[in-house]
Amino acid sequence: MTVIVTGGAGFIGSNFIFYMLKRYPDYRIICLDKLTYAGNFSTLASVMDNPRFRFVRADICDRKAVYNLFEEEHPDIVVNFAAESHVDRSIENPCLFLKTNIIGTATIMDACREYGIIRYHQVSTDEVYGDLPLDRPDLLFTEETPIRTSSPYSSSKAAADLLVLAYHRTYGLPVTISRCSNNYGPYHFPEKLIPLMIINALSDKPLPVYGEGINVRDWLYVEDHCKAIDLIIHKGRAGEVYNIGGRNEMRNIDVVKMICDALGKPYTLIRFVTDRKGHDLRYAIDATKIHNELGWFPETKFADGIKKTVQWYLDNREWWETIISGEYQNYYEKMYGNI
Ligand code: NAD
Ligand code: DAU
Repeated sequence: MTVIVTGGAGFIGSNFIFYMLKRYPDYRIICLDKLTYAGNFSTLASVMDNPRFRFVRADICDRKAVYNLFEEEHPDIVVNFAAESHVDRSIENPCLFLKTNIIGTATIMDACREYGIIRYHQVSTDEVYGDLPLDRPDLLFTEETPIRTSSPYSSSKAAADLLVLAYHRTYGLPVTISRCSNNYGPYHFPEKLIPLMIINALSDKPLPVYGEGINVRDWLYVEDHCKAIDLIIHKGRAGEVYNIGGRNEMRNIDVVKMICDALGKPYTLIRFVTDRKGHDLRYAIDATKIHNELGWFPETKFADGIKKTVQWYLDNREWWETIISGEYQNYYEKMYGNI
């Protein structure tokens, strides 16, 4: 089998590549990535010499480059992780999100139609369902929950999901979609909540918590997400959507306090800052479908996953220090310069 993984130099895509190379000793994995600010070539250093791995730097919106790659590799499976993924950046620059997340998805699927594949898998997000109220813990997102987005990011992901389902109905493309909750783990880009808090706490810098810190996210260890995608691409039914979630709802403030505790840092580092515009209140996934159909369940408990993650950032300083010393500084200054 030859698998093209787009966005494989990013957080979840790279973890998926490591997982697949290990799990399937006879598979060839091709990473197609533009290496935007969020993509790191160094992340893939450990697999660059693997004869079953190839890295290609290209934009998923570049039709010629994408078609050339499909012509050369004739992939059996395509897993599309490539996206602009940060909600705060989508509030600043929506159009970039529309281009990458919608046009890019259509371009990759056109190549799949042209060359023929066994499975196209779209890595989507629970954010397409909008948010849930804080005072209704009984409510969860199911695959039937209507699409109701809040941010330019989630709107672009929802538009891509609709296109994926349209390519299935119109052209018979064998697609699947997964909608996952918040991931955490190794190689998570420092702009996101958990790595930002770990890195700031390590340097005794303020920990910026939006609003009152009461928004709730459903955290899943990244390897559990990779395992779910593996099951869906091999055993999931074409044309279907599968929710993936950790069954691990936590308020942001409690996540930040756990990180302080893990690092032995005082809560006095915490600063409550201006809330994110349109900030979704709560995400919570009902993953009954993937559990019943494919036998998946989240294996890593948050208490263990967060310890492993904190340790990874302690052991891999060079990886994140290189990132935060570059262009990232301008972003940080703009977002958090006044705290
Ligand atoms: P990320 O931002 O860490 O990585 C994105 C990767 O895509 C980077 O390597 C980047 O270089 C690449 N990329 C961006 N634009 C590209 C383009 N035009 N052409 C080719 N490559 C391009 O993102 P992530 O957190 O790993 O998320 C991966 C996917 O999973 C995204 O589609 C995201 O919507 C989805 N998702 C993420 C989470 C999460 O918690 N991080 C949860 C659910 C779903
Ligand atoms: O739910 C899945 C989604 O999870 C993915 O689709 C997105 O790609 C991914 O980025 C993530 O989105 P969130 O907006 O939930 O993640 P983020 O890490 O940006 O923020 C998590 C929560 O923490 C959110 O409620 C906002 C809050 N936050 C975030 C940052 C960066 C803060 O309080 N302070 C911060 O500095």
